[in-house]
Amino acid sequence: MQLKNDLLLRALKKEATPRRPIWVMRQAGRYLPEYRKVRAQAGDFMTLASTPEMACEVTLQPIRRYGLDAAIIFSDILTIPDAMGMGLHFVTGEGPRFEYAIRSEKDVEQLPIVDADALSYVMDAISLTVRELDGAVPLIGFCGSPWTVMTYMVENGSSKSFSHAKSMLFKSPQLAHRLLDKITQSTISYLLAQINSGASVIQIFDSWGGALSPHVYKEFSLKYMQEIVTAIRAAGYDTPIILFSKGVTHSLGEMAETGCDGLGLDWTIRMQQARQLTGNRVALQGNMDPNVLYADEAFIRKEVKRVLSDFGDAPGHIFNLGHGMQPDMDPEKLAILIDAVQTAE
Ligand code: CP3
Repeated sequence: MQLKNDLLLRALKKEATPRRPIWVMRQAGRYLPEYRKVRAQAGDFMTLASTPEMACEVTLQPIRRYGLDAAIIFSDILTIPDAMGMGLHFVTGEGPRFEYAIRSEKDVEQLPIVDADALSYVMDAISLTVRELDGAVPLIGFCGSPWTVMTYMVENGSSKSFSHAKSMLFKSPQLAHRLLDKITQSTISYLLAQINSGASVIQIFDSWGGALSPHVYKEFSLKYMQEIVTAIRAAGYDTPIILFSKGVTHSLGEMAETGCDGLGLDWTIRMQQARQLTGNRVALQGNMDPNVLYADEAFIRKEVKRVLSDFGDAPGHIFNLGHGMQPDMDPEKLAILIDAVQTAE
């Protein structure tokens, strides 16, 4: 499909663009009143995510409201463990939960590698959304990194210390690798199906890569993201891939060598330094602290200018926040941010 707005794709190729593209992580979500309405109709998160018409509707909501340069399919990184039979649900105020945690050798052995057929509702949502977008902007497909998904499976939910997941890495590394391999194989099939259904870009969310020491990160997180990138290329697809390892500034050079096209950055590094560390080989996406959106308009505009000038005039910058929108953020503040980026040059 011919895209009317292909700024994101051009920036990912590091081609010059008249202005920098912008999308924001968690652009569909609870900070939008129109999202909360559909979410209430659905009753629970999984019904919303697994009903293609509803998932499509909430994907399009931020596109209708703002002049964003990309849509991201409404789903979750935990659909893979759900498809593996772990029974994902969300407990209000506590986040994601499964029916059981993966802790023992038996737990890992019994876990199936899943084919994308088990996630056909995501592919249906993608095809429907691509049809509805009618080429307005590209649609981003996504997954979690195997390490980040593993933390939720082993901890049975969110964690601050990752004590169970890290225990597995350090006490039973072979078992951890078997688990990561199963998640990786399932993820490859999932992403190929997303691309076949019309996703124009893929982002891998490694939200908890930054919880690991550099050498541990390389062995247990980067290695599996590399396998995913290699498998997508080996299947013959040149779909741009963005890796986002939050809190990881120590390995940007290695990440840029994986064959990915872009790296997502959080706010803990200067764009200029990230460009040097990656030898300008990939596009960079980021990196304003989302909490800036709690400040007033003048401060938001000043911070946008700072990020833009920190990257500089070169091509290959995609504006984004360093992490996702929060439920208590004001939708009007995001409008200001988008205007500041799009009218800057
Ligand atoms: O607009 C978009 O960005 C697309 C939708 C999207 C969601 N989750 C919807 C969602 C994306 C890209 C994700 C990814 C995701 N999910 C990540 C990686 C990105 C990150 O934030 O680091 C992670 C770690 C998850 C796991 C997850 N899903 C958690 C921890 C939670 C609970 C959060 C909470 O505040 O309750 C979710 C649920 C979830 N996924 C919500 C949304 C909009 C909120 C639940 C709801 O509406 O009831």
